[in-house]
Amino acid sequence: MGGRTITDVVTIDGPAGAGKSTVARCAAERLGYAFLDTGAMYRAATWRAMHLGVPLTDDVALATVAREMNLDMAEGNSVLVDGVDVSAAIRAPDVTRSIHYLADNTNVRETMVAHQRRIAALGPTVAEGRDMGTIVFPEAACKIYLDASPEERANRRAEDMKAAGHSVDIEKLAGEIRERDERDRNRTVAPLRPADDAIEVDTTGMTPDETVDAIVALVEAVKGTAS
Ligand code: DC
Repeated sequence: MGGRTITDVVTIDGPAGAGKSTVARCAAERLGYAFLDTGAMYRAATWRAMHLGVPLTDDVALATVAREMNLDMAEGNSVLVDGVDVSAAIRAPDVTRSIHYLADNTNVRETMVAHQRRIAALGPTVAEGRDMGTIVFPEAACKIYLDASPEERANRRAEDMKAAGHSVDIEKLAGEIRERDERDRNRTVAPLRPADDAIEVDTTGMTPDETVDAIVALVEAVKGTAS
């Protein structure tokens, strides 16, 4: 990272369905920052492994899949892997269910972290994920941890999936979210947890606009103290 102080990285972490992606993207826009969706990176690598037919239990092969991935997230919402637009494919339920094979792999995570730091070094960035405040940008001046009740998170994910044309079984979805929370919180590498200096925001009952307002206000307060 060339010794640059990461004062202009805002980290947003939290569990699935806490509303991170939508609000982090809008907050980035309002602040004039770039937006980095790191979940999309793990999704893209998982899609690539599945597309190449790499066994998901082969740790060495998965590390190569991540290292050799040509990932392009420069254009708005779209994600390109090796030149193919996979923006919708990486959100498919079978990809979501398989991400843990890569997210638990230390070598895959090292590749991702290096890539995330290179992207954030390009300019002010809102970085969203699970380990942004704890592992990737521990020096970030403003760290936010978003959470919401499990029921609300399941409902939000259901709405997203319906909007993307997937059929939804809410009970099954709630079970999958619980399972993913467990995995994300209890894995040995980069477990999901708030950084010690993160500000925790419970978004249960808050609209996306209210959450964006809260984030922008927090960032501006932190910047005001820093300058
Ligand atoms: O935010 P999301 O649902 O798109 O993330 C997909 C998965 O990727 C999630 O189950 C955990 C993993 N992930 C991670 O391990 N580390 C990150 N920084 C971001 C996501």
